Amino acid sequence: MAPKKNQSVERCGKYPADLEAFRTTNEGLNIFLRPVKVSDEKLLKKFFFSVSDDSMYHRFASARTDMPHERLQEYTLIDYCNEMIILAIEEDKDENEEKIIGIGQYTLVGDTKSAEVAFLVGDNYQHHGVGRELLKHLTEIAKSRGILGFRAEVLTDNPHMMKLFEEAGFDLEKRIEGDMFDYKMIFRREE
Ligand SMILES: CC(C)(COP(=O)(O)OP(=O)(O)OC[C@H]1O[C@@H](n2cnc3c(N)ncnc32)[C@H](O)[C@@H]1OP(=O)(O)O)[C@@H](O)C(=O)NCCC(=O)NCCS
Repeated sequence: MAPKKNQSVERCGKYPADLEAFRTTNEGLNIFLRPVKVSDEKLLKKFFFSVSDDSMYHRFASARTDMPHERLQEYTLIDYCNEMIILAIEEDKDENEEKIIGIGQYTLVGDTKSAEVAFLVGDNYQHHGVGRELLKHLTEIAKSRGILGFRAEVLTDNPHMMKLFEEAGFDLEKRIEGDMFDYKMIFRREE
């Protein structure tokens, strides 16, 4: 996808190391947030494999749970401009490597200054504040890049996602369409 006109072309496609951050969640979990890298396919595969069908269903609103190479490549080959993927990482002390415990991502919607946002946190790490930190970090990144708000589709039986969006301090509209809520969230200007 070509970068939008208002974006620096040099920045697109280059790993944005300045978006790396360490955070401690409200539940005391220490996590490292960083943009996805081309070399992350193996870690992503492990992560998706560890996630329950129910969580996959709530993320993708589809019964499809497989993650073949082509689908994983959609996660690793991004330009960091039109698309942003932030991984929540915990150090895997047994394996002495990084372990993905959550993913937050946005994709710009057409020519608008709005982006579609979505999250998936590993089942064993849900309810530990990881989703909240991912949303905060993605919001800061989006704001710094001139994006004005997020959109999201959330299944009506997903109170945790709704709570996160509704408590995030956005000006928010929500419409129901079948078994989905269509959220439109506008970032508030800093006072
Ligand atoms: C929805 C989801 C991303 C939330 O991430 P999370 O890391 O679990 O969320 P947080 O821990 O930051 O919690 C956010 C709020 O949701 C609530 N919550 C989250 N999981 C909960 C659970 N299992 N039981 C009760 N409440 C829960 C908490 O009350 C929390 O509010 P609090 O801080 O006031 O306690 C995560 O549950 C998930 O990946 N679900 C499956 C995929 C999905 O539904 N994606 C959304 C599609 S856009």
